[in-house]
Amino acid sequence: MEFHNRNIISIQDFTKEEINHILKTSQTMEPIASTGTDTLKGKILATLFFEPSTRTRLSFEAAMQKLGGTTIGFNDVETASTKKGENFVDTIRTVENYADAIALRHCLEGAAVVAAEYAKVPIINSGTGAQEHPTQALIDLYTIQKEKNQIDNLKIAIIGDLRYGRTVHSLTRALTNYNVELFLVSPEALRIQENILKETKSKIPVTEKQNLDEIIPNIDVLYVTRIQRERFPDPAEYAKLKGAYRIDQKTLKTAKKDMIILHPLPRVDEIAPEIDQTPHARYFQQVGNGLFVRMAILSLVLGATK
Ligand code: NCD
Repeated sequence: MEFHNRNIISIQDFTKEEINHILKTSQTMEPIASTGTDTLKGKILATLFFEPSTRTRLSFEAAMQKLGGTTIGFNDVETASTKKGENFVDTIRTVENYADAIALRHCLEGAAVVAAEYAKVPIINSGTGAQEHPTQALIDLYTIQKEKNQIDNLKIAIIGDLRYGRTVHSLTRALTNYNVELFLVSPEALRIQENILKETKSKIPVTEKQNLDEIIPNIDVLYVTRIQRERFPDPAEYAKLKGAYRIDQKTLKTAKKDMIILHPLPRVDEIAPEIDQTPHARYFQQVGNGLFVRMAILSLVLGATK
């Protein structure tokens, strides 16, 4: 198992053993996060965010600083040379000289693959188009493991924008490593792409549903996602689907007492605020875990941890 200088492009690049190793390393980061350490002293992470972000970028930056490293980067293309017409590859070829790793977020699928082809430093895919968001999937797995003490033998429902949600795609793929039963719940127009569905069905039991009512009493983990407005080619199509589902007290009436609700955030209106106070809500714990998991990823990729 070698993580040093490795690109993190897709969750599919990792074996189950490697994923479990990252989860174990994340756990060792929890106490370190409160004290801080200097194992990455002198190392620089560049965060190149061509798309908006709050959690991903800030948790990568916080993770780097907790480990004694520093960060450079941009989160607004208006202020980068992209604005002057610089192409993406030239930006990568420039930044690789200043940083030991690059966390990249981009609206185009394939951007992380292209960057990795050109860069001599590791690329960490921090969300590319509707395609993948592998570090979020690791956070999701870590949270499930921590909150339910297991991943195997759970019934997991993913609800929302299964078509455009990159966190959905990475998590679905990640879950095929475990003995879980998956329910994919969405309006017809937001169903997961056929190729991902086929690939997933060949590994674990999957049931597609248009609503949650019939299955909610059996579910252990409910993973909610927002409708990805920015990825709709036609705003009218988004307007039609907006508000198609909402988790509130009524939805949860028949849910197991220990069912947990996760959400990669940001939430728009798909989880009623009243749910935040219930023992089901674990999405803010999930956000907190982002720091530990990203500390583990940086520590492994930059060679401070084996
Ligand atoms: C997600 C993303 O960027 O894909 N955000 C995140 O990193 N937690 C989810 C989203 O934008 O809906």
